[in-house]
Amino acid sequence: MSDDPTATTSPPPPRYDDGHVQVLISQERVAARVAAMGAEIRAELGDVPITCIGVLKGSFIFMADLVRALGGQVRCEFLGVSSYHGGTRSTGVVRITEDLRHPIEGHHCLIVEDIVDTGLTLDYLHHFLAGRKPASLRTVALLDKPGRREVDVKADHVGFTIPDEFVVGYGLDLGELYRNLPFIGVYSP
Ligand code: IMP
Repeated sequence: MSDDPTATTSPPPPRYDDGHVQVLISQERVAARVAAMGAEIRAELGDVPITCIGVLKGSFIFMADLVRALGGQVRCEFLGVSSYHGGTRSTGVVRITEDLRHPIEGHHCLIVEDIVDTGLTLDYLHHFLAGRKPASLRTVALLDKPGRREVDVKADHVGFTIPDEFVVGYGLDLGELYRNLPFIGVYSP
């Protein structure tokens, strides 16, 4: 492989196909939607520094692409949250496993979620972070599964609304696997 820093082509990514994952949203559609959402959120918030709060681990790839699409001044924070414990159904118990590194009081904050399913996590995090007195608190979710909602919560910005299927890829996992798929796919055992 070439290590020429001026080279303009990169090798194709390795194929990934274990027979369990079917493409739901292609890499190209994800990229186009994330770019559009970044522009939409920036237009709405204006030229202010935005503190993006990525919810680990599922949002790490979305967050990486979104902060570049937002442009302007952006701070990156992360919150560790666990609610699934390796299965395909939520336990319904939200637990903070890693807190923010810096105070967010007075900041314009954006919670960056991979997916809103039952809504328990987003609802919990919204209350949790609102208590830290940000100047504003908006939410963005790449995916929304409204069919499984248990609490009445909706992200301010949603990338794609999807049916009640368990999805993996682009940060989302099943038992810590599949996060590195460049697309979003439906998992079937
Ligand atoms: P909620 O609290 O039920 O809304 O779930 C939120 C979290 O559950 C998300 O941040 C994901 O980490 C995880 N989750 C929900 N649905 C899926 C899925 O289809 N695939 C992978 N993770 C999911």
